[in-house]
Amino acid sequence: MNVDELLVERPMLQRDHLGQPAYWAVAEDVAKLLDQTVVPGSRTLETGAGISTVIFALKGAEHLCVVPDARLVDRIVAFCRDRGISTDKLSFEVGRSEDVLPRLHPVDLDVVLIDGGHAFPIPFLDWYYAARTGLRSGGTLVIDDIQLWTGHLLSDFLRCEPGWRLSHELVKSSVFEKTGNAFLGDWTAQLFVIFDGDVEKALRMKNSVSDLRTLIPDGSPFIAIDDGQLMLEHLGMLEQRRPLPLLEGGGHGGKPADDSAAVRNLERLRAEGAKYLVIFWPAFWWFDQYRDFVAGLGQRFARVAGDDDMVVFDLRVELVASSDGGDRQAGTVK
Ligand SMILES: C[S@@+](CC[C@H](N)C(=O)[O-])C[C@H]1O[C@@H](n2cnc3c(N)ncnc32)[C@H](O)[C@@H]1O
Repeated sequence: MNVDELLVERPMLQRDHLGQPAYWAVAEDVAKLLDQTVVPGSRTLETGAGISTVIFALKGAEHLCVVPDARLVDRIVAFCRDRGISTDKLSFEVGRSEDVLPRLHPVDLDVVLIDGGHAFPIPFLDWYYAARTGLRSGGTLVIDDIQLWTGHLLSDFLRCEPGWRLSHELVKSSVFEKTGNAFLGDWTAQLFVIFDGDVEKALRMKNSVSDLRTLIPDGSPFIAIDDGQLMLEHLGMLEQRRPLPLLEGGGHGGKPADDSAAVRNLERLRAEGAKYLVIFWPAFWWFDQYRDFVAGLGQRFARVAGDDDMVVFDLRVELVASSDGGDRQAGTVK
């Protein structure tokens, strides 16, 4: 039997609240993704059980399934036996994932499927104890049932986190690649929390933060203009890159009286050690309102990045016009 044949057969392994056979399986797109992703010997873990468990068995994974329903486990094993599918590499922990996972400490997993309890906070605990440190870097996390608020919230949170990349949006599942260390620090490092669940804002900032971490060396102060909207004073993930407000005494918002006032503040901050200047998208209106200030920045300093989310000037090197009035060149290093 292969995965396609299993999907055609649709065995009713679950039981509803009246004890009647039911088919509550992962959707076909998840089944096919598992078919492509899991290879013999893959180290895999799922919460909940059913058709997905049979798929892991079919693919020859070293699979751990955490599920409280012992009779469901018996039906899965019997189904596999009837179809000649080896269960040698399947292990079951019969219990609720929130009780079982905290003592397991899994590591080096290739795939984690979260499809057990969907009540708050079970999917979050499943992610925390099975995927956060259990998945290897580059491993695959499937969160099933994102049409439910708990799955949806977990998925949105991870989309905004630096250590995770949304690789597939399926009919009722999100699939993530773990891209790095899944740091779980203070709330100030969690864009989804900082921006009150505003995913669009958090995603824009996720991209900007990642670019800034490459562009601006740790320890460098930079002038940040964001119209006071990006909670820069709380952005823990910028680490020692210190955002300075342009205006004295205020936060990151505020309006200079005019272009000259903006330039005076720029010079003051450069003298105090500011190395870069970043204009973030909420303050893009500055390009119209402070035309001379922004034009002056472009003439004096290298624009080292610019996209729909931010424009970055390198204040360390002042450009000087060449004597023949041609291209501007790098001048004094401050
Ligand atoms: C939607 S079904 C899983 C479907 C399965 N992935 C498939 O493809 O057939 C949800 C499963 O989660 C199990 N479950 C419910 N609460 C759980 C918990 N707290 N921990 C682990 N499993 C749980 C149920 O017994 C049920 O088997």
